[in-house]
Amino acid sequence: MTRRALVKWLHWSTFGLILYFFVVEPESVPSDPAAGLDLHTGMVLVAVGLVWILMYLAKGLTGHPGPKLPGWAKTFDPIGHKALQIGVPVGIVSGALAGLAAPFVIHAFGSVPINQGFGGKGFHNFAQEVNELLFDGLILLIGLHIAFHLWRHFWLKDNALRVVAPRIPHIHL
Ligand code: HEM
Repeated sequence: MTRRALVKWLHWSTFGLILYFFVVEPESVPSDPAAGLDLHTGMVLVAVGLVWILMYLAKGLTGHPGPKLPGWAKTFDPIGHKALQIGVPVGIVSGALAGLAAPFVIHAFGSVPINQGFGGKGFHNFAQEVNELLFDGLILLIGLHIAFHLWRHFWLKDNALRVVAPRIPHIHL
């Protein structure tokens, strides 16, 4: 698998997982934390996010600003991507910390011990507030990113979406 192909998988898996958190807003269930969909999805997001951030730290961004972009957009493009590369793991870590601060036992997938329930209620609530704030910031950043690339593709007509689209929808773009 080429690096570009792996980035596409990481890109769209992250998008799907974050979309799930945004739309469904899954909650942990104190009486049965192992059933919490937020935990299972969160574990998958941790795995995907870890691979992506390690790849970014080792190799940097895969893409470069397109030649059709005006000056301001050439500056904005890599800054936005770097902010997302950092913002995604920051959001994931803050979510994981909120889980670790929970005052109830959490076993991922019913068996992997994540938290023995030593956390306090006040600390847990605070960690959840911080996580929500960071998640909202990340959603804002993602919204800007999507608007920017749609603008490039449909207004500037530089085929930006082809760069990240899976091969099958390529013919429609
Ligand atoms: C959770 C949501 C998303 C995140 C975290 C995200 C993050 C990123 C990052 C970090 C890059 C740079 C990758 C690199 O160069 O190595 C990128 C590229 C790109 N993204 Fe997203 N993205 C998201 C959703 C979307 C969506 C929904 C679209 C469609 C409108 C999109 C369109 C693009 C395009 C076209 C590029 C390639 C830009 C280029 O290389 O010139 N992204 N994305």
